[in-house]
Amino acid sequence: MASATVGTIDIVAWFVYLFSAVMFVVGLHFMNSPKTARKGNQISAFGMVVAVLMAFIVLFAKGFVNTVAVVVLVVGIVIGAVAGVVSAKKVKMTDMPQLVSVFNTVGGGAAALVALNDILTKEGAPDIVVLVTAGLGILIGSVTFTGSLIAAGKLQGVKWVKKLSLPGKGAWNIVFIVLTVASFVMLCVQPGQRLLWSILTTLFALCYGLVFVIPIGGADMPVVISVLNACTGTAVAMSGLAIDNVALIVAGALVGSAGVTLSILMAQAMNRPLLSVLAGGFGGSDAAAAGDGPEGTMKETSPDDLAVQLVYADKVIFVPGFGLAQAQAQRELADLGELLKGHGVEVSYAIHPVAGRMPGHMNVLLAEANVPYEELVDLDEINPQFPSANVALVVGANDVTNPAARRPGTPVSGMPILDVDKAQNVVVMKRGRGMGYAGIQNELYFEDNTQMLFGDAKKSLQAVIAAVKELLA
Ligand code: TAP
Repeated sequence: MASATVGTIDIVAWFVYLFSAVMFVVGLHFMNSPKTARKGNQISAFGMVVAVLMAFIVLFAKGFVNTVAVVVLVVGIVIGAVAGVVSAKKVKMTDMPQLVSVFNTVGGGAAALVALNDILTKEGAPDIVVLVTAGLGILIGSVTFTGSLIAAGKLQGVKWVKKLSLPGKGAWNIVFIVLTVASFVMLCVQPGQRLLWSILTTLFALCYGLVFVIPIGGADMPVVISVLNACTGTAVAMSGLAIDNVALIVAGALVGSAGVTLSILMAQAMNRPLLSVLAGGFGGSDAAAAGDGPEGTMKETSPDDLAVQLVYADKVIFVPGFGLAQAQAQRELADLGELLKGHGVEVSYAIHPVAGRMPGHMNVLLAEANVPYEELVDLDEINPQFPSANVALVVGANDVTNPAARRPGTPVSGMPILDVDKAQNVVVMKRGRGMGYAGIQNELYFEDNTQMLFGDAKKSLQAVIAAVKELLA
């Protein structure tokens, strides 16, 4: 009777997990467009709630839980749910990348714990499939845990995290990659010693996560974040394979494959070989500290002067960056664009793939302000257009416009940039003389054809809109 119940519950659980997996795929499909993305999130979240409830039911039906375990599970679910809801509601849009990094930390850590538990509590020696999949779950999950924690600290701008540095950074990466892989191989070939080898794999992988992300500085973080995202998914899928849970396998595979695709795209966008990211071969706070700042003075302009330049222009290119998101000035920028277009000025928006702090940040921001999709122009297509633009208006963008990227020896070297300096006139809106994310001064601000309009982007744009309206009245 008992085995019949167990058999039935396993079959029911398998179908319910499959249903959840389908919900994840459907949800992901809806995320193809900003218009349906919210619905996609809700569908995927529903799939996840169903999977968690089913896991809970299976534990009870199989008699795996005693009173203490029930209390631990309920407390865990309540803490996790409250933390998830509160953080998603409270965190500002501009802080989302850090939140995603924290979620990666938790996801990677959880996957590693599930795999560790599976290996250590199996009766008798686990077979090779379990050893390999659970071992990879431990390895990748542990790297993701510490790596994402450091990435979240860097994105949040936590001073002591940003200051962390490692002498001989690349060497540490090689040392810990070798130690981690060696322990993992020993775990697979010596299952009798699995306690020792799984603990060593965990420890070395945790260390690799630290030495992998600590040296990566400035502009190179987007690639690392997407690699860690791919790692979270892969670790979850490996743990799912180890414990034979179809919902975990599908959810992990979706996140992992999306993360790998994103990592390749990000590496291409940043002009960095993906393999050198994993071996710690680029970026770094040392490089940031070493750079000499550009010399010269910045010329200032006013909203009235800028309004005149814009109204008499034939072609204007807007260059949005992280500062636009920070100021939440996307609607004002779209309004200015509409005003100028109504006056016969050709307006387009230059989109750099890593502008802002998350992939697609500028596209999402401008879609929110109903900027027509055709007016958003990618880097390759917009760069040849700068010389014919009368005005390039840079709104809170910094690193993605820094001409220093064109020569070696700077933290942004090699990164493709928007050729803003080639426009006939450049006006930069920013609050003050603050640096970009890479921590270096922007040479663009000292060029002869560049003028600075200091102030919060939202307030500056409002003043420019008022001045343009006055001119056109
Ligand atoms: P950043 O280089 O981050 O520069 C943003 C500029 O906006 C700052 O110089 C700041 O100067 C200005 N700013 C901040 N708040 C403002 C406000 N309220 N009003 C007006 N200006 C404001 O931006 P970017 O050019 O978009 O480059 C993105 C950087 O982030 C790249 O280095 C990229 O590699 C990195 N990154 C990107 C991602 C992804 S996936 N997109 C992820 C992690 C890191 P003031 O302080 O003087 O105002």
